[in-house]
Amino acid sequence: DVSTSCAVWLAMHSIDKGIPVNIQALLCDKVSQAMVAAGAPADSEPLIRQSAKPQFGDYQVNGIMGAAKRLGMPPRQLAEKVVEHLSLSGIAHKIDIAGPGFINIFLDPQWLATEVEQALSSEHLNLAPVTPQTIVVDYSAPNVAKEMHVGHLRSTIIGDATVRTLEKLGHNVIRANHLGDWGTQFGMLIAYLEQQQADHSAEIALQDFEAFYRAAKIAYDEDEDFAVRARSYVVKLQSGDEYCLKMWRKLVDITMEQNQRNYDRLNVSLSAENVMGESLYNSMLPSIVADLKQKGLAVESEGATVVFLDEFTNKEGEPMGVIIQKKDGGYLYTTTDIACAKYRYETLKAERVIYYIDSRQHQHLMQAWTIVRKAGYVPESVPLEHHMFGMMLGKDGRPFKTRAGGTIRLVDLLDEAHERALTLVKEKNPEMDAQTLNRLAEVIGIGAVKYADLSKNRTTDYVFDWDNMLSFEGNTAPYLQYAYTRVLSIFRKAGIDEQSLQGPLVLTESREAALATRLLQFEETLQQVAREGTPHVLCAYLYDVAVLFSSFYEHCPVLTAQDESSRQSRLKLAALTARTIKSGLDLLGIGTVERM
Ligand code: ARG
Repeated sequence: DVSTSCAVWLAMHSIDKGIPVNIQALLCDKVSQAMVAAGAPADSEPLIRQSAKPQFGDYQVNGIMGAAKRLGMPPRQLAEKVVEHLSLSGIAHKIDIAGPGFINIFLDPQWLATEVEQALSSEHLNLAPVTPQTIVVDYSAPNVAKEMHVGHLRSTIIGDATVRTLEKLGHNVIRANHLGDWGTQFGMLIAYLEQQQADHSAEIALQDFEAFYRAAKIAYDEDEDFAVRARSYVVKLQSGDEYCLKMWRKLVDITMEQNQRNYDRLNVSLSAENVMGESLYNSMLPSIVADLKQKGLAVESEGATVVFLDEFTNKEGEPMGVIIQKKDGGYLYTTTDIACAKYRYETLKAERVIYYIDSRQHQHLMQAWTIVRKAGYVPESVPLEHHMFGMMLGKDGRPFKTRAGGTIRLVDLLDEAHERALTLVKEKNPEMDAQTLNRLAEVIGIGAVKYADLSKNRTTDYVFDWDNMLSFEGNTAPYLQYAYTRVLSIFRKAGIDEQSLQGPLVLTESREAALATRLLQFEETLQQVAREGTPHVLCAYLYDVAVLFSSFYEHCPVLTAQDESSRQSRLKLAALTARTIKSGLDLLGIGTVERM
C-alpha cells in the first residue's frame, strides 16, 4: 500500500510551476484543501489511489472514513461536504460518493488530452523535479576470487533498476558495490597466487576462479608450509605490507575485470569506480570497537568483544550477543557493516541508504543497525532500508542449480539465454543475416532473464523458467520489446515521424482515454518504485500500457482513421506509448530494437 503522505507528495512536485504534474499529487492537493474546508483535521490524509475498476472512476479517495472517525461524523456526511468544497472543474467530469464514504473521481478526457500533449512536448515525459536526496544504494556485492553466480543476479539487476529510477527522478545516487574483498581467506589466496606465479601459470589459473579457490584451499589444508605462509600473509596484509597489498590488489583487479564483463552484458551501470568493498572499512574498525566499549555498549566476554542486544534473543531467551571482535583480534562481517553505515552517513552524507541483499542476511543487518542506532552513528531521520529478496528456484521448486548440483555461473546463464533467444529469432526471421540475429538474440535473451526477475515481487522466491521468460505472450520482456517495435512500425508505414504530428489530441473513445490515463501515470509509478525499491511495479505498469495500447490499436483505427485529424491524434497517443515503453525499459536496463 502507498503510505506517502500528501505533504510528501506535494514537496516532491511543483504543482504551481506550470510543469505537468502527476495526477495523484494534483488530486492529493485538491482533496486535502477540500477536506480542511469541510472541517477535517489539517493533517488528515486524503489517501488518493488509482481505482481498481472503471465503475469506481479513475481515482478514489480512501481517506474520508478515517477523517470522519476522528471528527465523530458519519463518513458519508463528511464525503458530501468534501465534494461540495472540491473544485476539480476542468479536471474531472464526474465525482461520485460510493459505499461507506469513498469518493470516486472520473477524469475529464479533454483535460487528459491536454496533459498528454504536455507530456509529449516535455523532454522528461511529464516528470516533475523532486527535492533531490543523496541516496546510497548497496547492490551486487560479489566476492573477490569467486565468480559471479546466479545468486548475485537479483541484487545486481534489481539494485540497478532502482538506481536508474532514483536518478531519473533527480536524486543524487551513490552506487556502492560492497565487494567481499577482505578477510582471512586472502592469506591463502595470496600464497596460492604466489605459487602460481612462480609456475608462470597465474593468468591461466585465474580464468577459473572456482578452481583457483578450491586448489588454494586444498594446498592450505594439506600442505603445512603453505598454511604457515598463508597465515603470515594474513597478518602482513592486515598491517599494510606492500607486497601482500600488491598481490591482494591483483586478485581484486582480476575479479573486477571479470565482473565487468557481466555488468556490461547485463547493461548494469556499475564500474570499478563504484567499488566500496569491505576493505575500505578495515582501518575504521579498531576505533569503532573502542568507541562502542567506551559507550558501554560493548563488553569483554570470554576473550571476545561482544554487544548484547535485548532486541534479539537467543534460544534460551537471553539477550543475543553479537561479536564485534574475536578472541584472536579479528573483526567480523557485522563490525564492517557497522562502520559502513556510519561512513555512508558521515562521509558520503547519505540521507537514505538502501541495501539489496538476500533475505537470509536480514538478521545480520538488523543487528548491525541496532548497534549503529544505539551508538548514534546514524540518526533515525536517515533511513537504513533492507530491500530484501528471495531466491531463484529451479522448475522443481528447489534452489536453482546445475544438473550436477553446483552453482550456476552467471556467464553460463547469460550464454544460455543468448542461445535460446537465437533459436527463437532465427525461426521468426529466417532471412535475417547472422550479425543482426546475434544482436537481436543478445537484446532479447538478456532482456528476458532480467525482466523475469525484475517483474516478480522481490520479496518472494521465484521459479526460473526459460520458456515463460522467452515467451512473446504475457508479462515478459519479449512481449514489451515487440510491442515497442509494433508502434514504431506504424510510424514507418505512415511515413511520418513523431515530431511532425499536428493538430489537437482528442480522446473520443473510452479505449483512448484509458490508454491516455495510464500513460500519464508513468511518474506516479516511478515514485512508487523509488519509495519501495520495487521495479516489479514498473514492469506491471509497462505491461499494462502495452496491453491497453494493443486493445486501442485493435479497436480504434489509426492509419485508416476516418479523417486526418483523428489520424494525427491517434498517432500522438502511439508516440507517447512508444516513448513510455522505451523509457521504462531503459530504467530497467533492458534494451530495445527497431525491428524484431
Ligand atoms: N558480499 C556479500 C555476499 O556475497 C554481500 C554484501 C552485501 N552488502 C553489505 N553491506 N553487507 O553475501
